[in-house]
Parts: sequence; structure tokens; C-alpha cells
Amino acid sequence: MNAKILITGATGTTGQYTIANLLEKGAKIRAMVRTMDERSKKLELLGVEVIQGDFLNLTTLRNALKGIKRTYLCYPFKDNLPKGAAYFAKAARENGIELTVAMSQMNVHENSSSPATQNHLITEDILDWANIGAVHIRPGLFASNYLNMAGPTVKAYGKFYAPNPQAVYTIIHPQDISDVVSDILTSDNIKKHIGKKYLLAGDKVYTGKEVARTIGKVINKNVEYIPITVNQWVEAMKNDPYVNDFLAKHLLEFSKDIDSGKFNITNNVVKDITGHEPRSFASYIQEFQYLFTS
Ligand SMILES: NC(=O)c1ccc[n+]([C@@H]2O[C@H](COP(=O)([O-])OP(=O)(O)OC[C@H]3O[C@@H](n4cnc5c(N)ncnc54)[C@H](OP(=O)(O)O)[C@@H]3O)[C@@H](O)[C@H]2O)c1
Repeated sequence: MNAKILITGATGTTGQYTIANLLEKGAKIRAMVRTMDERSKKLELLGVEVIQGDFLNLTTLRNALKGIKRTYLCYPFKDNLPKGAAYFAKAARENGIELTVAMSQMNVHENSSSPATQNHLITEDILDWANIGAVHIRPGLFASNYLNMAGPTVKAYGKFYAPNPQAVYTIIHPQDISDVVSDILTSDNIKKHIGKKYLLAGDKVYTGKEVARTIGKVINKNVEYIPITVNQWVEAMKNDPYVNDFLAKHLLEFSKDIDSGKFNITNNVVKDITGHEPRSFASYIQEFQYLFTS
């Protein structure tokens, strides 16, 4: 692979892991960032070409995709994904993109009442229609969610507050998602991936109680799971600067999907693509345990 690979969402959770992974594989990378700041400087220091770009600005997308053949499309948890994806698709077609690995969600389905999930559903179609070699990845819950969802209350009170006590769901280490993304991006046989919708599950499924138990085991402290209502949870989540109104609405509706078992999935997809078993949720918490302990 001589052409540079374009990574969007490059300063985000999966973007950063993907870049680290691709650098290890010796790939050349262009990173599209929304803002030039300390994070983009760090990427430049790693030898990555950094370019400013916005999913909602076609001109910047055209610049970002110039000379590129393969790309990772990772739109943030914000509104207007179908618009950004359509702009991206247009710029990608103009540049003859052969492979677009695109972030979606595990619970994508026609009847979802989450605006974010509906946006992913229509975006999968937009990218397929554009004929830009789309491969859709549909991961379960990111382990990284728990840094803010559990970190502060575990640290302060030894408690994890969350709704849906009966729900059973898969949690995936974001590095596993990025391993899948970078293995597809550097594959010698992209034809076998194009058109696929990969459900990415973690090592096993969890409940709120098991999340608390797992965190407690890692930090060697008793952590209690406290069930709360969905509304109480969403209101509390709004204090997190990452949780905009759009994401808050998603969380409200996502609670229905999690309760109905849409994330109760284990599979071999991570292993089949990367050759390794999914990392455990505990291993992610281990990496960030300082956020759970005082
Ligand atoms: N969290 C979950 O459990 C979960 C599960 C399944 C799927 N997903 C999907 O994962 C995606 C988020 O992935 P992630 O967590 O890796 O990303 P992330 O950490 O939220 O990062 C998003 C990145 O996009 C950049 N960005 C924001 N607005 C932009 C714009 N207008 N144009 C270009 N770039 C922009 C951000 O830059 P700045 O920081 O400078 O704004 C940031 O680098 C969402 O599509 C979500 O639906 C999440």
C-alpha cells in the first residue's frame, strides 16, 4: 500500500487507536481533524500528515480525499450524519476511492426511535449507493463510555448508577474496533469485505451488576450497581460536556434497544478479521484505572 490512508475522526477514540495501529503496520497516513490543536500537533509528531476538514464542508472533504484510495469514515456522535456522509460520498467518488470503512452502530434497525441510529441506517445506504467500496462496522457499546459513565461516581462513592438492570449487552474495547478497521484498510483482498456489515462484539456480554463487579475487581474495591430510571440517567449524563442534546436523545431511545436485547450479541467477527480474541472490558478499565480511584 503506497497511497496514504485517510483517517477521519482522527483525534477521536477509534481514530487515535486506528492511527497507532496503522503506523505499526508501516502505512502512510493523512489525518483529517476538525480543529488544529495540541492533539493534531501530536499526530504530526508521529509522522502523520494532518489536514483540517469538516464533514459539513465539501471543499475541505475534497482536499482531504485528494490522492487517497482508502479511508476510515468516523462521524462524531452529532446530528447531520447523512448530510456529512453525502458530501463525503461525493468527494470520495470524485477521487476514485476504492475502500471506505464506515463507523455505524450495532443496533441499526428500521424501527429505531434514536435519531443517531436512524442517521446511521440511512448513511449505510448512502455510502453503498455511492459505490466507494463501503464496509460498515457496527460495534456494540464502547468500553470508553464507562470512563465518564462510571468513573466519577465509582471514584467518589464506590457506586455505578445506570438504568436497564435487566439488560444484557456486549461491551467492546475500542482498540479491537480499530484493529478491525486497520486490518480491513490494509487488506490485500478488499473485495471480500466490501458490502459487508460487520457486527463487532466484545469478549462477552454484561449487565449493570457485572459492569460494577468488573470495575471493582480491577480497582480492588467493592463497587455497587445502583439501578436508576432512564430519565435520571440521561439528566445526569447531560453534565458530561461530550453529551450534546442530540446524544442525550439517543441515550433515551437507545435504552429501549438495550432492553430489547439488540446488544445481547457475542460473535467471532473480531477474531475472524484480526486473528485475535476480543480484549476484555477489564483490560480497558485497567488502562484507565486512575479515573476510578482517588
Ligand atoms: N460510543 C459508543 O458506544 C458507540 C457505539 C457504536 C457506534 N458508535 C459510533 O461511533 C462514532 C464516534 O466514534 P468515536 O467515539 O471514535 O469518535 P469520537 O471520540 O466522538 O471523536 C469524533 C471525532 O470527530 C471529530 N469531529 C467532530 N465534528 C466534526 C466535523 N464536523 N467534521 C470533522 N470531524 C469532526 C472530533 O473532533 P473534535 O474533538 O475536534 O470535535 C473527533 O476527532 C459515532 O458515529 C457513534 O455513533 C459509538
